[in-house]
Amino acid sequence: MMTAPLKNSGPTTVEVALGDRAYDIVIGRDQLGSLGSRIAALRPGARTAIVTDRTVAKHWLAQIEASLAQAGIAHSHIAVDEGEGSKSYAGFAQVCEALIAAKVERNDLVIALGGGVVGDLAGFAAAAVRRGVDFVQVPTSLLAQVDSSVGGKTGINSPQGKNLVGAFHQPVLVIADTAVLDTLSPRQFRAGYAEVAKYGVLGDAAFFAWLEANHAEIFSGGAAREHAIATSCRAKAAIVARDERENGERALLNLGHTFGHALEAATGFSDRLFHGEGVSVGMVLAAQLSAQLGMIADDDATRVQRHLADVGLPTRLQDIAGFAQEGLADADALMALMAQDKKVKRGKLTFILLRAIGQAVISSDVDPATVRDFLARKLAQ
Ligand code: GLY
Repeated sequence: MMTAPLKNSGPTTVEVALGDRAYDIVIGRDQLGSLGSRIAALRPGARTAIVTDRTVAKHWLAQIEASLAQAGIAHSHIAVDEGEGSKSYAGFAQVCEALIAAKVERNDLVIALGGGVVGDLAGFAAAAVRRGVDFVQVPTSLLAQVDSSVGGKTGINSPQGKNLVGAFHQPVLVIADTAVLDTLSPRQFRAGYAEVAKYGVLGDAAFFAWLEANHAEIFSGGAAREHAIATSCRAKAAIVARDERENGERALLNLGHTFGHALEAATGFSDRLFHGEGVSVGMVLAAQLSAQLGMIADDDATRVQRHLADVGLPTRLQDIAGFAQEGLADADALMALMAQDKKVKRGKLTFILLRAIGQAVISSDVDPATVRDFLARKLAQ
């Protein structure tokens, strides 16, 4: 079984092997200060524009600017409002106009400093301004470090749905400083942890077992945290390198997301259910549906649920605040939300299901009636 390094000994580097668009993910404590020298080595002479949000700026902007200044790199910044609302047409226009006003040129660099919202928004603006400027991801949430900053999906929300407008635009560097996670609320950290656990459940049984044994140290910030983030990034990098544009295998990364997105929509994409919390409940439902379909043993589904519950994540529909009171505890309403999420093709639903813990499969012919009955039973429990 995998073990964590006994102590921190410099950062870990994971390569995303995409040919002439390959890049490194640097993972370790206290890495923000290395940004300037890394950019100077990667893009000599480039100027930079930092895109961040106001909360992240308060914590980390000064340190980033000092690192750039020390390396002699010109920099400007724009801070958007914190939260999903900035991933909008208005937010996109605001960032693009600021980048143009800052005279960002084709050979300059945009730096996305923040969580998933900032990374997706800044990455999309970088993809669009002057038909494409390179960008660096400096993710400051656990979710962004293990998922959204890696792989090149960028974009904004449409009033008609999440992430419906965007582009594939790979960063040229990702710096995941694990010490910045110390300022996250426990709830935010837990939500990101759901995506860490996802990599074990979908493709690495030994990693899942290691998480079961070591989750406390990941939360407290020891060497296990760095190991968990590096293992997650390695898993994602391997899948992205094989299927950058999600023509197949990359869809496995959507484990828990078919149910999860419906639950997020049912709660109005609000703070009542963070994305990672929706993924947690969704992943348990996907495991339980797999068990119902005879693909895994009931005990495997129970094990997935037990681990996520052990770290304090919601794992049942009934765990979602206000869910029953608002008439959302309705199998037909949830089915309708899943249909809106574009996962229905010719009357069949696409799910990521399990053949074992550590072996997810894309299942594109799930009968909606089976799912509806399954949800109705879960809601009645
Ligand atoms: N978050 C899923 C993906 O990057 O494909």
